[in-house]
Amino acid sequence: MILVTGGAGFIGANFVLDWLATSDEPVLNLDKLTYAGNLHNLDSLQGDPRHVFVQADIGDSATLARLLAEHQPRAIVNFAAESHVDRSIHGPEDFIQTNVVGTFRLLEAVRQYWSGLPAIKKEAFRFLHVSTDEVYGTLHADAPAFTEVHPYEPNSPYSASKAASDHMVRAWHHTYGLPVLTTHCSNNYGPYHFPEKLIPLMIVNALAGKPLPVYGDGLQVRDWLYVKDHCSAIRRVLEAGQTGQTYNIGGWNEKPNIDIVHTICALLDELRPRADGQSYRAQITHVKDRPGHDRRYAIDARKIERELGWKPAETFDTGIRKTVQWYLANADWVASVQTGAYRDWVSKQYETA
Ligand code: NAD
Ligand code: TYD
Repeated sequence: MILVTGGAGFIGANFVLDWLATSDEPVLNLDKLTYAGNLHNLDSLQGDPRHVFVQADIGDSATLARLLAEHQPRAIVNFAAESHVDRSIHGPEDFIQTNVVGTFRLLEAVRQYWSGLPAIKKEAFRFLHVSTDEVYGTLHADAPAFTEVHPYEPNSPYSASKAASDHMVRAWHHTYGLPVLTTHCSNNYGPYHFPEKLIPLMIVNALAGKPLPVYGDGLQVRDWLYVKDHCSAIRRVLEAGQTGQTYNIGGWNEKPNIDIVHTICALLDELRPRADGQSYRAQITHVKDRPGHDRRYAIDARKIERELGWKPAETFDTGIRKTVQWYLANADWVASVQTGAYRDWVSKQYETA
């Protein structure tokens, strides 16, 4: 079996669902269930004996040791993290605890377990760490996209904490020989995306008749990766990646934020027009910019294509249409994640923006 951490979050849940749709190898899913973790993401696996869920913290060494000894995974995919830049600006402490201390404890528990494996299993074992393109910092408009050798220049508490975790993963390979793989993906989007991030927030706010809050001039650029493409890339890296290597995963879809918002408005105008006949664009509001806002991220994903034969299946046009359709068809899921804690965050972040 494989152990997935953070498998009740956005990407982790998509990964678990995809994994079990394409393989019969069981998954032990370990997740703390923070505000971002949601077991409803995994409703379709209810009663499926291939999926075992455990609510636990990656920083809980004793529980990790017990679970590793009991379930003997052949690989670990580490998604567990605090993942939202704006939250890291309001309160960095949780980011240090989970992304830095938690990753350290996880690495140590895994090293202990891995050291005791018989030679063949030890050789075949993999620890795949899911990182981000944000560790590379920001790019000028005409600079080449990030390659795997781009220097680390993290600018937010979130990206600094992810960078710290990447460095430990690298060091645990170099020093102890732990067979690690690290991936750096761009901005994911798709089903089960928590509506605090740009794309789901815009869809949910548009449908609720609320303002669409664009930070600053809206000309910040991100590369967008459909989450299922990210899942297939991780499967491929796990299967064929070279230990100690890092792989950038991107969608070849660099776009300014304002274009993303316009595209979402156009799709909603087509699929769920406003009752008053106006475009959802009328709801766009420019709000105060994010402090230290990175201007541009761009991923050069040629290495994973060249070495592992992976490339994304979706274009932005196909992926965003599927995403908007998913949100329209899953209003119950949206309602279920808009709890009191979600409402508190939205008022803290946007009422002063
Ligand atoms: P998410 O915030 O939706 O989910 C994170 C999950 O981790 C949640 O289920 C949460 O309960 C769990 N978790 C948090 N702290 C934990 C802890 N201490 N122990 C165990 N579980 C814990 O995040 P996501 O968007 O699914 O991102 C997954 C990974 O991918 C993260 O490592 C993130 O840094 C990385 N990443 C995400 C994106 C993106 O666009 N979403 C882009 C690049 C990299
Ligand atoms: P986000 O989804 O938070 O991802 P990240 O900051 O990790 O790239 O934001 C994507 C972009 O959208 C980023 O440039 C910030 C911007 N943004 C807004 O303009 N308004 C919003 O309400 C949010 C959440 C993000």
